[in-house]
Amino acid sequence: MELIQSVRECQLWRRQITGSVGLVPTMGALHDGHLSLIRAAVRACNHTVVSIYVNPTQFGPREDLSAYPRTLERDLSALRNLQVSAVFLPEDREIYPDDYSTFVSEGELSLRLEGQSRPGHFRGVTTIVSKLFNIFRPDYAYFGRKDAQQLRVIRKMTKDLNYDITIVDCPTVRDINGLALSSRNQYLTKNEQLRAAVIFRALSEGKELFEKGERNAGILRKVIEARILTEPLAKIDYISIADDVSLTEFEGEITADALISLAVFFGPTRLIDNLNLPLKI
Ligand code: PAJ
Repeated sequence: MELIQSVRECQLWRRQITGSVGLVPTMGALHDGHLSLIRAAVRACNHTVVSIYVNPTQFGPREDLSAYPRTLERDLSALRNLQVSAVFLPEDREIYPDDYSTFVSEGELSLRLEGQSRPGHFRGVTTIVSKLFNIFRPDYAYFGRKDAQQLRVIRKMTKDLNYDITIVDCPTVRDINGLALSSRNQYLTKNEQLRAAVIFRALSEGKELFEKGERNAGILRKVIEARILTEPLAKIDYISIADDVSLTEFEGEITADALISLAVFFGPTRLIDNLNLPLKI
């Protein structure tokens, strides 16, 4: 497993390998969710590259950039067991030198949901992912459904900018109580982690009701909200029931495949999760 810190070395590495390349971008503090993406890449590709980079441009000024968990030694030992070909570990100045001035932004999907709560977030994501695409020219790139909007924004960017890359989406990995694994779960106490399982219970309740035939988005939102509010530690940022493709909010009847997504604070920690509501005809 090669550890690479400079863009130049990545490009040289890329030139001398043959066969398919899978890229798994991460911000480190690796957990089983990340590892599931990496395993999928290793199974399908001749070479798997993992990037570990806490990308400052996707954090807002009042967000947790400096507190974001960094567990490099543990991450590398997890990767050594997985037949990863290369790990890219750049410093900030390698990615964003002092004179850096070019950004990539998607102008529709990015503005909704997380984009409302975290202005500029997706501009940072699309910029770094696009740089990683250019640096590694992968055949496949792996993203988790846990970050449903990010996945859609990246698919859109890939299409709009004509990247010849297949975006592979992987299922959300959850703990035994249903809480979606996230590096940010490390901010929660054990008790908060247990209580945060209410998020998945609420989503599942919404989905069950939908599967029983409830098509009114307002009613589904209310049911999910009521379940989350049974947990006094939770503070709802948003609960959305939106068109699965355009991410536009359904007001009344759900008339196409939908996505329930939400963001909930537990103390200062902001958690996101989602479930699909496919309309079976
Ligand atoms: P990060 O939060 O480290 O996540 C890296 C990848 O792992 C993303 O594709 C994310 O959706 C996926 N992932 C996280 N938790 C998961 C879970 N519980 N189950 C399945 N997949 C999961 O997302 C980012 O980093 C950054 O925005 C990045 C794309 C690396 C750009 O900086």
